[in-house]
Amino acid sequence: DWNPGNVIAEQVERIRAQVGDARVICGLSGGVDSSVAAALVQRAVGDQLTCVFVDHGLLRAGEAEQVEQDFVAATGVQLKVVDARERFLTALAGVSDPETKRKIIGREFIRVFEDAAREVVEDAGAHGDTVKFLVQGTLYPDVVESGGGEGAANIKSHHNVGGLPDDLQFELVEPLRTLFKDEVRAVGLELGVPEVIVWRQPFPGPGLGIRIVGEVTAERLETLRAADAIAREELTRAGLDREIWQCPVVLLGDVRSVGVQGDGRTYGHPIVLRPVSSEDAMTADWTRLPYDVLATISTRITNEVPEVNRVVLDVTSKPPGTIEWE
Ligand code: XMP
Repeated sequence: DWNPGNVIAEQVERIRAQVGDARVICGLSGGVDSSVAAALVQRAVGDQLTCVFVDHGLLRAGEAEQVEQDFVAATGVQLKVVDARERFLTALAGVSDPETKRKIIGREFIRVFEDAAREVVEDAGAHGDTVKFLVQGTLYPDVVESGGGEGAANIKSHHNVGGLPDDLQFELVEPLRTLFKDEVRAVGLELGVPEVIVWRQPFPGPGLGIRIVGEVTAERLETLRAADAIAREELTRAGLDREIWQCPVVLLGDVRSVGVQGDGRTYGHPIVLRPVSSEDAMTADWTRLPYDVLATISTRITNEVPEVNRVVLDVTSKPPGTIEWE
């Protein structure tokens, strides 16, 4: 029978065998996958591990703080924070194509890690030493959808599997590669990862970068972040967090529609709510949210976010739609 204790024991052995006494680096995204992967590797090789948190500027409101406060406080893991917000914005300037965005974000992400790895080695004063391994919170569904599994199609290049640059200088450690999300949560709880992180809804590595249809700009990110924070706050207030798998909030950056507010005509952007119910993200159904919750979210977003004058609901299952819009 499957049980988290066995998975941990088995993975700890595997990680030790793979890594030996080399140094290991891990990217923390704030999500359950990277957090549990980091906790597992820390269990296996202790302070050979340094975690790196890349603030790529595509995060939701408050997420940087959650990584530093919740996860680091609970685990005591060594953390290096890299502020790469400008770098990602520059790299994404003028780019609208979804797959190109994903590839750019994935590529920049790895490069930032390579720089961080060098600094980690220098900071430790370990001259001649190298950070040889990179931990990734890749799950089984990521492997399958990126064409890593048998008979699988490459639907999207999930940046934690595909899209790595040819000159990648890390060997990957992927202790969650055989697990589904619910299994990762069980492993996380068993490892003592805080519940607030273990029960966090999934959020894609490329972050808000793939939730802005059209070019990613600082202004659009600010708009989407404000709308997303309102939606999350109201869903939590309504007690719906465990009922929905996740609720992407999407900004249609290249679409405008006419509206009216006060005495004036507006010409703003629509926000799409994409609440879905799912077991493993391979298939999903749209969540029948209560109308009064939808009404509150819509009223608040259009009142509080000036650039948004319309809120629409995505009522598409997966398939044929994917959960994310890009
Ligand atoms: P789709 O849009 O393919 O999403 O139905 C399935 C699940 O995967 C998440 N997702 C990602 N996660 N890196 C990630 O770590 C990615 O590039 C990525 N793209 C999608 C998505 O949020 C959903 O939970």
